[in-house]
Amino acid sequence: MNVQTTALILSAVLYTVWGQSPVVTARPRTAAIKLGETVSFHCRVTSGSQPVQLEWKKNNNQPLGDNVKLGPDGAVLTITNVRLSNQGGYRCIATNAQGKGTASTSLTIRQPPKVRVTPSGPLSVRTGESVTLECSATGKPRPSISWIKQGSETALMSTTTDTTASLQVRVMSAEDAGTFVCRAQSREGLAEGRVELRLEGGASFPQASVTETDLTAVEGQSVTMHCHATGSPTPEISWSKLRAPLPWQHRVSGGSLILNNVGRQDSGQYICNATNALGYSEAYVQLEVDSPPYATTLTDETIARPGDALRLQCLAHGTHPIRFRWTRVGGASMSPGAETTKDGLLKIAQLKVTDSGTYKCVATNHVGSSEALAKVTVRA
Ligand SMILES: *[C@@H]1O[C@H](CO)[C@@H](O)[C@H](O)[C@H]1NC(C)=O
Repeated sequence: MNVQTTALILSAVLYTVWGQSPVVTARPRTAAIKLGETVSFHCRVTSGSQPVQLEWKKNNNQPLGDNVKLGPDGAVLTITNVRLSNQGGYRCIATNAQGKGTASTSLTIRQPPKVRVTPSGPLSVRTGESVTLECSATGKPRPSISWIKQGSETALMSTTTDTTASLQVRVMSAEDAGTFVCRAQSREGLAEGRVELRLEGGASFPQASVTETDLTAVEGQSVTMHCHATGSPTPEISWSKLRAPLPWQHRVSGGSLILNNVGRQDSGQYICNATNALGYSEAYVQLEVDSPPYATTLTDETIARPGDALRLQCLAHGTHPIRFRWTRVGGASMSPGAETTKDGLLKIAQLKVTDSGTYKCVATNHVGSSEALAKVTVRA
């Protein structure tokens, strides 16, 4: 072997050992995030001779987008406030004097399900007629789609593809009519679409429902109760109050009952009555109106002698529970012998002249508080 050949072999060996094109890995390989979230992909050079230059490209060489930022050495690609156009594959490309290495990652955007039901209701069908209700759903991951009849949880037999479920309904009697609900569900959420099917010429019993069965308000506020009714012919909605007339300041609008400036006396049960030719259906709302306490003292002025016993009673009306607290006005300290009870009584067994002064009772509940004063004069 001559010197020249040896040098040639040596440089070839060196070339393969030291002169490698880069090998890169990218992490994570895939990412799935929601719109508006942030994601980062990291590119790491695992071998290859330095210097290595890193760059990122979107598949199909589309531009990266203005919400895509690269780290200082190009190793980290960060997408902030992700939008649909960011979805797709990304390649990290490493280049050195010997060549190139690439690693791929991909981003998918998760979306909560959405449904579209066709035809949109309400639909009138004749006895014996059948209709096909079509439900198409979108979302990532792909939601599962099913049809149910309102009021039942059993899935109905439907013809499904990846993104649609079609339901055939044959209406033989009034019972076959009703509201049909398409449900699309994935781990991103649940979406529903509904169609009401009415038997033409046929009548159906009214069905009233309220959106909230229990309401709480504070005195002076406005309260709206919503009632919804199905049935054919379309039921009339009326409101009443159990064992009492409706409050004076009330208004009925589109099936909703609106009470303005409610007071404690407006607490109670309200009834939504949906009536049509076939009958009526009732739904109930329980309203509780809370009020702040209003405090008074049983005696506002007491004159006593030293050694007498003192009993001061504080009273309050308002929403229970009400807590009472007695203090002295003007910073004088309460007699060490003073005792108070939970129901607002202040007791001093033996009065002294120094107990003279004004006493204050504060009554508090979860809505507010109120105070009342009582004057005590002790003299020999
Ligand atoms: C509801 O309406 C029906 C028929 O109009 C009536 O008979 C029934 O008493 C009403 N119920 C209430 C609570 O008003």
